[in-house]
Amino acid sequence: MPAKDTTPVSLKSLIAELDNEFDVLSGREDLVRWAVTEDNCHWINPTFLKQKTGLMIVGVGKVHAVRTSVFVTDRVVEQLSDQRPSLLLTHHQFNYFEDERGLQPISGEQIQKLAKQGHSLYVSHAPLDTHPIYGSSLALAEEVGVKQTGRFYDYFGAPTAVVGEVGEQTLQDFAEHVRKSLLRPKIDVMQERPHVRTIAVVAGGGDLPDVLQEAYDLGADTMLLGTLENRWGIRGVQIAHQEFLQLNKKLKLNLIGGSHYNTERLAMVKVVRLFEGMGVPCEFCEDEELLRAP
Ligand SMILES: [Fe+2]
Repeated sequence: MPAKDTTPVSLKSLIAELDNEFDVLSGREDLVRWAVTEDNCHWINPTFLKQKTGLMIVGVGKVHAVRTSVFVTDRVVEQLSDQRPSLLLTHHQFNYFEDERGLQPISGEQIQKLAKQGHSLYVSHAPLDTHPIYGSSLALAEEVGVKQTGRFYDYFGAPTAVVGEVGEQTLQDFAEHVRKSLLRPKIDVMQERPHVRTIAVVAGGGDLPDVLQEAYDLGADTMLLGTLENRWGIRGVQIAHQEFLQLNKKLKLNLIGGSHYNTERLAMVKVVRLFEGMGVPCEFCEDEELLRAP
């Protein structure tokens, strides 16, 4: 927990540091689309609407701590409801449900709860995925002991995924090791080969045909991804997911799905170090419900 008696830091200087760290002005990604709605637009930072990333909600000018999260869920908002003004650094500018609702815009009600305490909200999506230290696939590969040999899959100007090696073992053994490492109650596995050695690691989603093709071309026998069971009820998402599964009938990689939340939370745990390095108290906000979602 952040100490209770630290000197608050200027939001403005913290944002300048983050904009620099996450290359916010490169303008490669549009985080406004789908996220800004009639219900929440009243509270969105005008600079966010222009830059399409970065500081989405502006709270008070001095913050006592930074909190990190994968999504802005009701449980995360609840954790902040009795805290002094903080900056919440989120990977996704969305609420999330592990069912057909999938990603949903943050509601006006959620924003009002954050605003009541003076909290601010900062989003880093692609720049965090591709970051050379805090990258989401990088953090996932490290956690499960995949020794990186390269990165692949260009994502808004930089490679996001990781390819690497583990000591040769059975798929069952590796999948169980992944399940334990990710604190999952269960792990999704599709077996095509008995053993694993060269692993493609793609945190978050990963269930896209072009990612799979690149993993195959790099010699991977197994792909560790976020979303092997895609429940999000969006037609385009489901079509891409089916194409991904169809392609794998030909390429025959073992597939291991660790869930969107559990594969991305590691980066948001790791990025706490960035703020510790700045001398700013920081903690990760866990969402226990998503962590343990079956
Ligand atoms: Fe994600």
